[in-house]
Amino acid sequence: MTEVQTLVKELADKHGRKRENLMPILQGIIEKDRFISEYAMKEIARELDISTAEVFGTATFYSFLDTEVRGKYVIRVCKTITCAMKGKNQILLALEDSLKIKVGDTTPDKKFTILETNCLGWCHKAPAMLINDDVYTELTPEMVRQIIEEYRKREELPE
Ligand code: FES
Repeated sequence: MTEVQTLVKELADKHGRKRENLMPILQGIIEKDRFISEYAMKEIARELDISTAEVFGTATFYSFLDTEVRGKYVIRVCKTITCAMKGKNQILLALEDSLKIKVGDTTPDKKFTILETNCLGWCHKAPAMLINDDVYTELTPEMVRQIIEEYRKREELPE
């Protein structure tokens, strides 16, 4: 078994093999590899017994198909309507300001990337964002600055 096959199998064992388990499985892969390869998508499709197109569609919808270099922490800010109405732009501005990069970019030290994504299913607690697979909700610009500060501190500690 390849490393990807083992990972997909472990994630499927953990989350289940139904169509609705696709999202946590994709997130699990992102967490480990930071992007989803075509090979990984095929493996997921096989494991869940769904089409590769379906896996591809979901991965694309959540902009999980990063083939570019991404930071250690990939921040995905929801851009869908509820979050958009509840101040997603202020959240993005606070992120851009804290990290001194624009949306779509990665910090020169390769620690952070800012991206936008579609609805994360936390509309009732909008605005929402993901940092890798951790969800942050009911965000304010001040909270965003604090969260980034915490990640920076974490990075300074020896592993
Ligand atoms: S609209 Fe942002 S989480 Fe649903």
